[in-house]
Amino acid sequence: MTINFTTIQWVGGINGHVEMIDQTLLPNEARMIAVRDEQAMWQAIKTLQVRGAPAIGVAAAYGVVLGLQTIPDQAPTEEALAQLDRVREYLATSRPTAVNLFWALNRMAGTARDTHASDAGQLKSRLLTEANTIRDEDAAMCRAIGRYGWQLIPENAGVLTHCNAGGLATAEYGTALALMYTAKEQGRSFHVFADETRPLLQGARLTAWELAQAGIDVTLICDNMAGLLMRQGKIHLVVTGADRIAANGDAANKIGTYSVAVLAHAHNIPFYIAAPTSTFDLATPSGDQIPIEERHPDEITKPFGASIAPAGIGVFNPAFDVTPHHRITAIITEKGIIQNPDEIRIRDFFKTNN
Ligand code: MRU
Repeated sequence: MTINFTTIQWVGGINGHVEMIDQTLLPNEARMIAVRDEQAMWQAIKTLQVRGAPAIGVAAAYGVVLGLQTIPDQAPTEEALAQLDRVREYLATSRPTAVNLFWALNRMAGTARDTHASDAGQLKSRLLTEANTIRDEDAAMCRAIGRYGWQLIPENAGVLTHCNAGGLATAEYGTALALMYTAKEQGRSFHVFADETRPLLQGARLTAWELAQAGIDVTLICDNMAGLLMRQGKIHLVVTGADRIAANGDAANKIGTYSVAVLAHAHNIPFYIAAPTSTFDLATPSGDQIPIEERHPDEITKPFGASIAPAGIGVFNPAFDVTPHHRITAIITEKGIIQNPDEIRIRDFFKTNN
């Protein structure tokens, strides 16, 4: 199935720039914006013009390339490497939860170290190739996740998803939504319920838009309606993405995911996570150690500009929560499915699939 929008891409040669769809404007406007330096990339990540764990990873990789453009091609490699360290540290401060950001920055740094470039120009061009590879691999991983997972959607199923784990959240095609795109390709009939996903409405603005574009039947619901639909027997499985999966399988995802997982358990409905292996953080033992981003109170008190709460009211605005592994039926990756994920199964999976 072809997706008719471009989430993020590099345009031109080594002195080129990044183009991305500005996700803060969707669904009212599908505008492509140009990002030309690392400050603009930091801002784009922070303000969610680009968002979703894998897409943030791609954005960070391109951000490194942008950050090196001010170094002349003839400059010594060491000068470019020192600049790379500064840019890497800077971009790492944009958002803390999605591990793909750090994964991509580390991969770029590793490539830079291994390149033994003769000058800055050679290093920069090697890094652009690497960033493009990260983007292309991400697109391929999403397709593979779809191939592994689509049969988990039974004929005539009702599928609930939360936030946006679609093409907008990745280089292309998505993770949770990849199951749906592939199932549709395979001729399967099903119906998607999209949680609107308070406070920033990624479900309403992005998932509903994306699925409708692809001709997939989708009904938008408020987050607090999921329990009713489950009780009415309209939901047969839940599938979401993840921002970081700890070594024991605990998974951080958009705030509200944990509540959906608990509801699914209470109604005996499978709860799946679809994520590439770049979303696993095996150095973090459990979900308790995953850093959870807290965002500005205005996102809750003044959503999209309109004031809906008393001025000065206290607000708690965590952007993510953690679903414990014992509430996850399976994790679908680009290398296969991990059933009943726990520390041992995840360790074995990575041993076998390295
Ligand atoms: O704050 P966001 O919009 O970046 O949060 C995104 C999510 O929580 C997604 O579900 C997650 O990144 C998986 S994307 C394939």
